[in-house]
This record gives sequence, C-alpha cells and structure tokens, in this order.
Amino acid sequence: MKLIPAQTVKGSLCLPGDKSISHRAALIAALADGPSEITNFSTARDCASTLECLRGLGVSIELRDEKLRFPGSQRLVSPRQPLDCGNSGSTIRMLAGVLAGYDLSVELIGDESLTTRPMRRIIEPLELMGARIEATDGRPPLKVHGSGNPRAITYKLPVASAQVKSAILFAGLNAAGRTTVIETSPTRDHTERLFKGFGVPVVNDNLSITLDGPARFIGGDITIPGDISSAAFFIAAAMLLPGSELVIEDVGLNPTRTAFLSVLSSWGADISTTNLRMERNEPVGTIKVQGGIGNAGGDRVLDGEKIPLLIDELPLLAVVGTQIKGGIEIRDAAELRHKESDRLTATARNLLAMGADVEELPDGLRIDGVTKLRGASIDSYGDHRIAMAFSVAALIAEGDTEIHGSESVAVSFPEFFRLLDSLIQR
Ligand code: S3P
Repeated sequence: MKLIPAQTVKGSLCLPGDKSISHRAALIAALADGPSEITNFSTARDCASTLECLRGLGVSIELRDEKLRFPGSQRLVSPRQPLDCGNSGSTIRMLAGVLAGYDLSVELIGDESLTTRPMRRIIEPLELMGARIEATDGRPPLKVHGSGNPRAITYKLPVASAQVKSAILFAGLNAAGRTTVIETSPTRDHTERLFKGFGVPVVNDNLSITLDGPARFIGGDITIPGDISSAAFFIAAAMLLPGSELVIEDVGLNPTRTAFLSVLSSWGADISTTNLRMERNEPVGTIKVQGGIGNAGGDRVLDGEKIPLLIDELPLLAVVGTQIKGGIEIRDAAELRHKESDRLTATARNLLAMGADVEELPDGLRIDGVTKLRGASIDSYGDHRIAMAFSVAALIAEGDTEIHGSESVAVSFPEFFRLLDSLIQR
C-alpha cells in the first residue's frame, strides 16, 4: 500500500465493534443458558477465528440482519478437526481456558506468528486446575485435554496479561469453589465486566479477582462498543495534523483501555470525551479531537504499571513520540516482543527507516523529538498494528511511503485504509 502525506483529517464516524469485547461476548453467548444476540460484532479476522472455533465445537451461530444470534443452552462437542485460531492470541488463550473445564480433547492450531507465541503462561494455571495441555516448547499447536471436574485455584499471574487472567476465569466457571486471580498490575477488565453483565458475579478487590463456581451465564443482548484501539490510529493522525477535526461516536471508553488518551493529552493533544453511557457494564461514548500539538507536559516516560494499559498502542505512541519536543521513552515493555511480531524491533527499524532518532532498548525504546519523518519503505512484519501505526507516520512524512504487508490490517481492522482515505484531506 502506497501512502502520501496529508494536510488534515476531518469527519465523524462510528467503528466496528471492539475486538477484545467481541471475543469475550462470543464465548459467553456460546456458553450461556438462553439465547443471545450480538450487534456490531467486530469485523476483525481474529474474531472470525473465534466464531469458527466455536462452530467447530458444535455451537450454532447465525448471522441475521447484521446481528449474531446464539440459541444458547448448547453442549460443546469434540471437533472432528483441529480448531484454527489463525493469528489470534486472544482466541487460543481464552478458548484453552474454556476447554480446560470440559471433558473434551481439542487441538488448537494457528498461523506462523501464533505458533511462535508463548503459551506456558496459560498452560501452568490451567494444568493446576486439572487440564492437561500438550505443546511444543511451550508454543502452539496446543492439545487441550480438559477436565470435566476442574479444580478452583488461587493464582498469582507472573505476567500482566488480560488473556491469561481471562483463561483462568473461563476455566473457573466449571470449577466447584472459589477461583482467584491475583494480578501484579491492572490489565483490561472486559472479562470481569462482561461476566457480571451476563449474570456471573465476579468480585474485583484491588488486584484480586474472584469467581465462585460452578456458574452459568444468562444469555442476553449486547451492542459491542466501537474499537478504541482502532480509533487510536485516527486520533493520533488528527493530533499530528493541525487543523484536523475528528469525532468518533459509540466508541468503547473502558478506563483500562483509554490510558493512551491521557498520554496523548499530556503530550499536548486536544481530546475530549462526551455522551458517556453504559452497555452491559462497558462504558461507551464519543471522542472529539482538534488537531495540533499544544504544550507537552508529563508522562514522557511510559513505564511500570502504565505499560499493560497501553500495550496495544505503544507502537503508535512511539510514532507520535517523534513529534514531541524532547522526545519520549518506553520502558518495562519487553512483553511487546511476544506480540504478533517483535513490536520493539519492528517499531525501531521502521522509525529508523523514516529518519527518526530512535534507540532500541531490551525493554523499550528511546525516541528523540522533534524529527521530520521521511517517506520510506516500511515492513509491517505481518503485524496489523505496525502496518497501521506506520500508515499514520506516512501521513506526516515528507515524500511517499510504501507499507509492505499492509493486508495484515484485516487481523483487527479490515476497513482501516478505506476509512482513513475517507477522512484525509490533501
Ligand atoms: C487482549 C489483551 C492483550 C492485548 C491483546 C488483546 C485481550 O494481550 O495485547 O491485543 O483481549 O485480553 P495480553 O493479555 O497478552 O497482554
């Protein structure tokens, strides 16, 4: 994909449903007693992987009038073939959690990138709960031999990961007794909110999350809020292009996902949120951005407990960081090396190619600013968020940029280039 510089972005839009919420809503609707209807389900390829895996387990899912309908009260059955999780870490980890609590043996496979991603983080707790999981060197494919009678455990997470937390909570649904997950640092809390929203009480007490099993969901309807991590790219583009005016309606504003808005505001962005309301315990509202960078204040070092709450936006924040006077630093973010690509290396190399002053650290990036970026040949490393972050960089660069592997955006946001094009003024 070739991108040329832009003057401003202008417009108002709604986005397809949040990827994280969509995965969870589909798993919940599949397991619930009674029917559920999901509106504005994510169009991400990752979420289609979750639906296909559920169908492979015998779950009936119908698409009618742009809504997904789940009849509910269904029994999971052994699939005839391995279930393909594609590129989706959320699918493989959360589904393994679900399967750990059923007397089924299921093989979970994925694409080349997924096959390199660490799974010991879910294997250890799920085996403590009574499942047996075969893997090669702790990586997919996974053969999950679930237990019809899983044990409730108390487990301290060794990594700050919402996917691992969620896997344990899904397994805990079928365990008799109290399952407790203790986090070292807060992560996105969609699982806790949606469990409560669909009738399964979960207690959050500071960093400890507790569920009493066995427990069943009550089916119901949900409209998935627009994906704030997809919105992030347009918000950053609007900030970086003075004169831009952007409105994003019906977007998810869960506080465990909005940290990047505070960071951008502290770097001088003019961002406001209005029209706040709740959808099944998930905050939803409108984001408005006026283009341009004002005076940059705090939050120039992103580290510690901030990292898990910014995890998917860090490559984009690195791009924005090149335009912040005095630069920025990202630390404690070695987890980025275990995403769809090694996002520290991918970001550093691509920023260097665009002429940025950047240093790759073992656990982060040091980026000097302000640097005028140059158009360049960008490698997405097959990673959707790298492709989109550097598409934003391309808009403020001098000269044209070629994004190789741009089709990867479909993993989370197939409409990205079309919507970007509709907003851009040249
Ligand atoms: C996700 C959690 C994060 C995030 C991923 C989606 C989720 O992963 O990077 O895109 O939906 O729970 P980790 O929990 O592994 O950090």
